[in-house]
Amino acid sequence: MPRVYVHTFGCQMNESDSGKMRALLGKDGFEATEEIHDADVVIINTCSVREKPEQKLHSFLGRVLPQKRSRALTVGIAGCQAQVDGERLFKKYPAVDLVFGPDAVHRVNDMVRAARERRVLDTEFLDGDAYPFVSDLDPAAQGQVAAFVTIQKGCDNRCTFCIVPATRGDEVSRPLAEVVAEVRRLVDHGVKEFTLIGQNVNSYGIKIPGHPSFAELLRAVHEVPGVELIRYTTSHPRDIGADVVSCYAELPRLASHLHLPVQSGSDRVLRRMKRFYTRERYLEVVAQLRAARPDLVLSTDVICGFPGESDADFDETMSLLERVQFHASFSFRYSPRPGTPALRLLDEAVPEAVAQARLERLQSRQRAIALAAHQSLVGSVQRVLVEGPSAHDEGVVCGRTSTFKTVNFPGSTDLTGSWVDVQITRGFANTLRGERAENSGKT
Ligand code: SAM
Ligand code: SF4
Ligand code: F3S
Repeated sequence: MPRVYVHTFGCQMNESDSGKMRALLGKDGFEATEEIHDADVVIINTCSVREKPEQKLHSFLGRVLPQKRSRALTVGIAGCQAQVDGERLFKKYPAVDLVFGPDAVHRVNDMVRAARERRVLDTEFLDGDAYPFVSDLDPAAQGQVAAFVTIQKGCDNRCTFCIVPATRGDEVSRPLAEVVAEVRRLVDHGVKEFTLIGQNVNSYGIKIPGHPSFAELLRAVHEVPGVELIRYTTSHPRDIGADVVSCYAELPRLASHLHLPVQSGSDRVLRRMKRFYTRERYLEVVAQLRAARPDLVLSTDVICGFPGESDADFDETMSLLERVQFHASFSFRYSPRPGTPALRLLDEAVPEAVAQARLERLQSRQRAIALAAHQSLVGSVQRVLVEGPSAHDEGVVCGRTSTFKTVNFPGSTDLTGSWVDVQITRGFANTLRGERAENSGKT
């Protein structure tokens, strides 16, 4: 049986696309492997959101390509960097057989077959009509409790720092019936927790008159028997409407956690990023969400050192952190991306050392906020959905709360897929530790 190894960089979109590739190639008899040395086909699903992911591709290929000298091996580069760099990747890495972008994932079988004879390049964007969302289920996800479901591809926003519109093309919403059908199939496979994914999920359906809205989609998924928890990502603060806010009051299986990227706490910077919301509007949305769901936990993304960001602008971001009390922030130093509008602002570039110092200050404060929040949970009992064994400790299983906290506690892997009450004994910056609460039965 031929074997395929898919290596994933980047976000949930890429993770999901990698799963789809494994599923499609499985239909042609490919077995998914976790060992590169066993593989007949290696696909690297790339990310180009910052400079670092590009360097990761470079060092990864440095390890894979020499293996072509000793055995028959097809090497493909997929994903966002493949989309923007296309042909250039063949020039840089002549031993690569296949380069294709996210819109070509559904054709992976034909491309892998053709790549045995000749080089294959496919970076064409497909338009919205009948966009081929792949529904096949990832064989590597068998037995998992949680799954991603794609509800949208691409992005119609043009945040000035961001390369994603160039890598994934225009936004296309997947028909509601298709989303619900995939959710039902996953329920039949034992999945209980669903994360609906897209770059800007709140604008789901917005372009097409009469199309169901994101709130309607949430309600439809919530009604599917067997769906125990719903998450979604990523949300754009501008597009969260009252209808989504009311879902937090009305849908008990909608998770009490929301990732709401703010990017900056300064209106001046937000304007230059073309985010189309103000600090005040962001805080208003947070207040509305918390009124609808008092235990809602928020996380965010922040960019430090965007061109022109002053000390005063950065202080606004720090004060927003205090106001909102995010439990996690994914923060990065601004990284200039090819072809993005913010390149025009580079004459006001923030010196690297200044941006780095800001990033470290922000991360250190964020860690302290998260640690305090997690330590305040010590002694409380949290319900967790058990995901499986802990990656590090024998005899310990790992579960997740509706608020997206990872909780490790001693227990048997038989608990996987069950809701268990856990008494929290320790809080760390990123995780919690606990013991099964007395009288906590499997449900
Ligand atoms: N669609 C999501 C949104 O609008 O918030 C985010 C998608 S982006 C793939 C994930 C995160 O990467 C962004 O929220 C941003 O913080 C970060 N990011 C994107 N471009 C960046 C850049 N040029 N430099 C640094 N961070 C960047
Ligand atoms: Fe990038 Fe902005 Fe689209 Fe998010 S909303 S993917 S940051 S352009
Ligand atoms: Fe990276 Fe593409 Fe996702 S650039 S973050 S893999 S959409």
